[in-house]
Amino acid sequence: MTFQLRLSRSILEEMLAQARAELPNECCGLLAGFLAKGTGRVEKRYPLVNAAASPVEYLSEPRSMFLADKDMRRRGLRLLAIYHSHPTTVPIPSKKDLANHYSPEVVHLIISLASDEPEVRGWWLTESDYRPADWVSVEEQMHNPFLIGATIYLRPLESGDIPKLVAWFNDPEVLRTVLRSDPITREVEEQWLTRIGQSPTDLVLGIAKRESNQLLGVTGLHRIDWQSRHAEFGIAIGEKNEWGKGYGTEATRLILGHAFRTLNLHRVWLHVLAGHLSALRAYEKTGFVQEGILRQQLYKEGRYQDLVTMAILRSEWEALSNEH
Ligand SMILES: CC(C)(COP(=O)(O)OP(=O)(O)OC[C@H]1O[C@@H](n2cnc3c(N)ncnc32)[C@H](O)[C@@H]1OP(=O)(O)O)[C@@H](O)C(=O)NCCC(=O)NCCS
Repeated sequence: MTFQLRLSRSILEEMLAQARAELPNECCGLLAGFLAKGTGRVEKRYPLVNAAASPVEYLSEPRSMFLADKDMRRRGLRLLAIYHSHPTTVPIPSKKDLANHYSPEVVHLIISLASDEPEVRGWWLTESDYRPADWVSVEEQMHNPFLIGATIYLRPLESGDIPKLVAWFNDPEVLRTVLRSDPITREVEEQWLTRIGQSPTDLVLGIAKRESNQLLGVTGLHRIDWQSRHAEFGIAIGEKNEWGKGYGTEATRLILGHAFRTLNLHRVWLHVLAGHLSALRAYEKTGFVQEGILRQQLYKEGRYQDLVTMAILRSEWEALSNEH
């Protein structure tokens, strides 16, 4: 059966950077992702510690292996490849590679730093032999990109996204951070998507990772007032393990750019729970200013909670844009 390992250019660059950073020793790591129709699509790289700390062999340190394995299970990823570097020799399996690392079911990528230009080759290994494995690094094609950032892009939502939206917006951990509290069904979400797609006063976009096209959440503008030229900003990153990685800030900046540069809005505002520190910080970083507190405005989790009103004016956004 034919098999091709596909990884993004950015993951390949990260592997090369690791190999250089760990010189003079060999580096090692794992690549995990999804397998479909003879293609292994790498979603995630797990750098491992080389317990041998040697320029001629590697030994994956058990704890880093254990943590990588645990994370793969949690994300539903499967191991697709093992990689290591050869600091001074060609990218061909050594006798030690064959003897120590007999994993016939995954591709072994070897990064050679022997010459100025690094060389990477893929292999299938048995205990005593090896044969070439097919692999490519690709610039991932973005899917319907509408607004493009450095690590994420915003795209229209599709009916195929609905199962993810339903899972996110029923998740208690996500719900406790947003203003609404009611459960959502697939049917309701389908109707919402149709309605929002036709609404002249709403703009909703999915947030996807450039590296893998994975959908992380949704963001947009609501209650757009075309006369007074203001709109309410909304965002929810539903993938909890992607919180705190800068994606929310980047998505907010993309929407603000679109709001002021393309839609010609004058003011973008939002309401956020007063105790939601990461959201407050992300909004402050993108230029939103606190305007006031709506005291005990929202009853949630057994108590009345304050809402903070924040807004950014076009002039403030322009001043910030000129600074960067
Ligand atoms: C709120 C949300 C949009 C923020 O996006 P994110 O990608 O997680 O956040 P970012 O990484 O861009 O920025 C978060 C900032 O808050 C900081 N932060 C995180 N936790 C914090 C805390 N407890 N106290 C203070 N600051 C905190 C981070 O350090 C980071 O600031 P820094 O870059 O200056 O270090 C996202 O977490 C989310 O969608 N959560 C679920 C739904 C939601 O809350 N929606 C918003 C409702 S108003």
